[in-house]
Amino acid sequence: MVPKGQKLSGQLKFKDKSGHTLRALDFANIVQTESQGIRTERNMIQPDLTTVCTTTAILLACCYFFLQHRRNENHRKLPPCPVRPWPVVGNIFSIGEDIRAQFKAWHKQCGGVFSIYFGSTLVVVVSGFRTIKEVFVHKGSVTSNRPEMFMNEAIGMGETGIVFTSGVIWKELRSATLQILKEFGMGTNLLAEKIQEEVTCYLEKLIKMRGEPVNLQHFTRVSVSNVISSIIVGKRFSHEDPRYKETVASLMRVAESSRGATAINFLPFLKYIPGDLFQAKKIQVNMTNVKDLLVEIVSEIEGTAVTGNQRSNSANFISSYRRKQQEKLQAGKRTSLDDDNMIKTIVDLYAAGTETVSSTIVWCVLFILQSTDVQKSIHAELDREVGQERQPTMEDQARLPYLGAVIKETQRLASTVPFSLMHKTSEEITVGEFVIPRGTSLIPNLDSVLHDPEIWGSDAHKFNPKRFLDTDGSFIHREEFIPFSIGPRLCLGEALGKMELFLFLSSMFQRFQFVPIDPLNLPTLKPNIGITSVPAPYEVCCLDRLNDKKVS
Ligand code: HEM
Repeated sequence: MVPKGQKLSGQLKFKDKSGHTLRALDFANIVQTESQGIRTERNMIQPDLTTVCTTTAILLACCYFFLQHRRNENHRKLPPCPVRPWPVVGNIFSIGEDIRAQFKAWHKQCGGVFSIYFGSTLVVVVSGFRTIKEVFVHKGSVTSNRPEMFMNEAIGMGETGIVFTSGVIWKELRSATLQILKEFGMGTNLLAEKIQEEVTCYLEKLIKMRGEPVNLQHFTRVSVSNVISSIIVGKRFSHEDPRYKETVASLMRVAESSRGATAINFLPFLKYIPGDLFQAKKIQVNMTNVKDLLVEIVSEIEGTAVTGNQRSNSANFISSYRRKQQEKLQAGKRTSLDDDNMIKTIVDLYAAGTETVSSTIVWCVLFILQSTDVQKSIHAELDREVGQERQPTMEDQARLPYLGAVIKETQRLASTVPFSLMHKTSEEITVGEFVIPRGTSLIPNLDSVLHDPEIWGSDAHKFNPKRFLDTDGSFIHREEFIPFSIGPRLCLGEALGKMELFLFLSSMFQRFQFVPIDPLNLPTLKPNIGITSVPAPYEVCCLDRLNDKKVS
């Protein structure tokens, strides 16, 4: 027992039943008091428990209000949200069936940037030419990442390829692929010859139809993806080759399911919903199918390259990629040019280069069916400038401004990739009075520019090629024409896509007159929108202008 008021010093040990020390306290200044038993002198100048609790509570409250204030500050600066998001699902159900019309309405309501929530993820939609240019060109160095996307996960190859990667991998693969495509003559006659070879086979298929109704979509897809084959493997495949047919069919099935993939990007649990409601399994199976078929084709090509018994082996994407890979490795440089990235880049080129170009061709014929005068003018220009003796070439492009205007007007009105691909900010950015945090997904609303009446006039919703021609009939370039997007992520295949559109469509119109099955019941212009905007399936009669009877 310590006498009252007496100071103690030493250590106070707490022991358990078996005598082990549990805790030792210094009791330098322990004092025995009447009312409290033992307490320390330090305690005498420290606040008691109530004071500590009260102070802690006040501090926590201050922290909470400070953080809440900062959060509100940030939220206040976020682009406006047109409708209040629901818990868990966000704005997914507010978008409805017609995403174009909804985004148009929200653009009008909120201006150049508005926020929506896919699940609990903030997504900022960027609309209008000025704002799109500011965000994706002027601030392009910090708005060109990609968010994680299910399409990438579905193929099971991690962060590979060009389309869905960011940072170092993306930069190296994009630059190497562009260099290879340029070596192959993207934008020059070398590639034009390969495209023309495919166009000739395509026309033969249509001639064989002898004017019977045909759904152009299938033929066109197969031919357009064969142009990619002639670059990747150095040769075209027969349209009847079962493995090639399966690759194209799988790609098409993936494109058809792309809407479900967009939802899964933000609400990953949707992929487990029974019955494959969001088509996650369909995407996974078909992506894997495409990858496996391409791996098989690539190993065959590399096998023949080693034995050297195939004429095309020295001039294809695969051998150029390998050469670049070796150069880097021999120089002792770190490189992303490995096998997985090669396969995924090939998948990317097939996927990005097939549906976009083939849909634009099919849209063009569909628009022409609604407008006989336009078709007459195209025929007149082609007959005058090229005739029927030879196939049109890239040199004819400058002599065919009307056809050029028809192609541009098709791309504008069809708006084939209406919302581009999603981007992600790598830094916080400011747009006008709003702040978009780092890591936010961005949707470039290309559709808002391509259909803007302030740019194209009050008839922006109509097909009118003349808006791309001046009074002398010369072609007018418009800065706001951005179907290939803008900024560092601009479509990598733009030059190839433009060549394909010109060479396919000029030859098609030179040879055929496109006639609806029933002029009084024209096919609908309502699109099916996934990542691309594809016309609803329709049939058309392709009358051979050399052999079949013309319809006036
Ligand atoms: C009419 C034809 C085409 C249109 C309208 C089109 C449109 C687009 C658009 C809007 C993007 C997204 C750009 C962005 O993220 O902001 C894109 C990306 C891309 N396109 Fe195209 N495209 C076409 C043809 C092609 C062709 C023929 C190829 C293949 C050789 C191709 C390869 C790519 C690739 C690889 C990307 C990803 C670029 C990247 O992420 O860095 N495209 N395209």
